[in-house]
Amino acid sequence: MVFPEESWYLSRVELKQHAAHISGIGAYVPERRLHNEELAQIMDTSDDWIYSHTGIRYRHVAAEEEAASDLAVKAAHGALDAAHLAPDAVDLVLVATSTPDYIGLPSTACVVQDKLRITGAGAMDLVAACTGFIYGLETARTFIAAGAARHVLVIGSEVYSRIVNWEDRKSSVLFGDGAGAVVVSAVDTARSAPAAGHIFPALLGSRGSGAETLCRLHGGTRHPYVPGVTPESATLLQMDGRSVYTFAVAALVEVIQTLLERNRLSFQDIAWVVPHQANTRIITAAARRGGWDAERFYMNIEEYANTSAASIPIALDEMNRKKLLSPGDLLLFVGFGSGLTYGGNLLRW
Ligand code: ACO
Repeated sequence: MVFPEESWYLSRVELKQHAAHISGIGAYVPERRLHNEELAQIMDTSDDWIYSHTGIRYRHVAAEEEAASDLAVKAAHGALDAAHLAPDAVDLVLVATSTPDYIGLPSTACVVQDKLRITGAGAMDLVAACTGFIYGLETARTFIAAGAARHVLVIGSEVYSRIVNWEDRKSSVLFGDGAGAVVVSAVDTARSAPAAGHIFPALLGSRGSGAETLCRLHGGTRHPYVPGVTPESATLLQMDGRSVYTFAVAALVEVIQTLLERNRLSFQDIAWVVPHQANTRIITAAARRGGWDAERFYMNIEEYANTSAASIPIALDEMNRKKLLSPGDLLLFVGFGSGLTYGGNLLRW
């Protein structure tokens, strides 16, 4: 037999409803820490402008030999250890990334599966940009709810330093590299004791009419890369910052309000909102518009900048290590990004 039976992912769909929870968290950021002042030496910007317009002071930048899968594997090790789970118990590897090891194919998830020596699992990438982790968590929850998987590894991993245009001060200063991972387990079979927590159904949104608001315009099948004709800058990230800002504030408010209404909750019931870390001003403007206490929105953008799909699990890992999370707390994850995409998860810790 070319593929031994244990190398297959066998769907366990029995049409049962299983509750899912997060059984382990991990994160990794590259060692190199770049201050705004260092950027001011290579482009026309300043610490003052960046900090006052975004809340960002540092970002971590991957070493030359580090790709998205390398960061992902380090974060995944942390999550698997915390869940006391052997890699082989994982049924599905999901990597949310818009900065994959390879363009389009193969998936970064397959590279991660191999590096973690996971056998008998499916593996796939998920492209929802900065909303990627939210989409990934909901995909994991639904696989588990359907009885199709018991343990799903959900990773957000990004190396934006490789795709930003370092000559564009309007976008390059905003991003950082990093990875965050969680193990999502069926509550009844989780090995962590006591099995606790619950992930509620998510809210996922999309608005493809804004596809080119934040994108890499050339290099795909719409506008193929033509050697000698396509300028390199056209293959890098480009962004209409003002439009993204307006969309982001509206999306954050709508997602939070809708998740609260659907679950018959008030903002007072939420211990922490963990927003995608794109810009302090976006988060505080959304809190102001919703009439919510901005102190309840966890923010660590000053240290890491915008790590796209990795920002929520990196924040969650940090909150966990700081012992900010207590059993029974209600957490609300909310994000937005290229696509355009937006969405939120609600979970009981
Ligand atoms: N340093 C110094 N000056 C700058 C910089 C910089 N890094 N960037 C822009 N400026 C200048 C501009 O050139 C402009 O100068 P001008 O008036 O002389 O032309 C001035 O500052 C104002 O520029 P704006 O773009 O209007 O600045 P704004 O106040 O809108 O802030 C920002 C820009 C921070 C990018 C904001 O629009 C924003 O946060 N947008 C959302 C971006 C975002 O979150 N993107 C990620 C989405 S998630 C994902 O999927 C990846």
